[in-house]
Amino acid sequence: MKAYAYAPGKIIICGEHFVVYGATALAAAINRGTTAEAEPSPTTTIYSKDFGLQADLSTNSIPEKLKPLTAAITAVKEHLGEKRGVKLTIQSDLPPRSGLGSSSSSAVAAVAASALALGHRLPLDDIIKLAMVAERLVHKNPSGIDVQVSARGGLLLFTKGSQPELIKLKEKVRFVIASTGVERETGELIERVRVWRERNLSLFSSLVESVTTLSRCCAEALILGDLKRVGAILNFFHTTLSWLGISIKEIEQIVEAALSSPAALGAKLTGAGGGGSVIILCSEDGADDVVKSVSKVASETFITTLPNNGVKTWVKKS
Ligand code: PMV
Repeated sequence: MKAYAYAPGKIIICGEHFVVYGATALAAAINRGTTAEAEPSPTTTIYSKDFGLQADLSTNSIPEKLKPLTAAITAVKEHLGEKRGVKLTIQSDLPPRSGLGSSSSSAVAAVAASALALGHRLPLDDIIKLAMVAERLVHKNPSGIDVQVSARGGLLLFTKGSQPELIKLKEKVRFVIASTGVERETGELIERVRVWRERNLSLFSSLVESVTTLSRCCAEALILGDLKRVGAILNFFHTTLSWLGISIKEIEQIVEAALSSPAALGAKLTGAGGGGSVIILCSEDGADDVVKSVSKVASETFITTLPNNGVKTWVKKS
């Protein structure tokens, strides 16, 4: 028997970075993610098809890039009190280090599939706790938003340390996601914002308060279908994040090209910045026009509608 899990990637619609310091952020699962396949085995091996790398825990040969997943799978075995190992293979259709949550969707899928291969369908809270073992090694000081969205799915208002609030939409919403193709380390960008905050403590704390208000305002506008208001909030966030010094030329080119399309209602960098991706909110039926506008300057573009489901697991008899 083989066990499988699929976990989606995510976009942060508003509140990235400020969420690390207690602000409420709004994020959503997207239509791309990571699939993990696992089966019981005498020893534990982890193979990443995307990196072309294998970790073998019996020989302690663990490539740097697979250390976070190795730690999470070790935590799963401890949690279950299991002596058996798992043979785990993961594959993602999310570009790595692009602000779309590839590391957290890999961790969520790997945890859920490994536990299922060992005979346990873990509750969501356990999947989240165990996937956070990997996330902490990748991002140093993560808020936990990526793992929460990947596991729970949907559209979530998230405040560090609290249960996320699920926002239900009456109508589907369309975003274009455009990647710069510039990979970056989230931990370095979190550090850059930490330095900015140290230099502007009182300003930063008023921004944290405003971000909470705006994230709630954005969720309300999405529920009401007031997409013009959502677009204006996205543009405000993009300007604020650029001011923190985490935008780059490639991001600005995509935002400018996107906003030249009448079908684009708002655009911003998503996630840590410094490269990664831009999200563009589109009018109904306008997504193809926006894709045309940004495809000259983006390395990859795709359309996602919201909402999308979180982690799912299944088994196949071999
Ligand atoms: O790694 P990314 O690009 O998905 O960014 C994560 C979002 C941050 O707010 C920058 C960090 C965090 O843990 O919340």
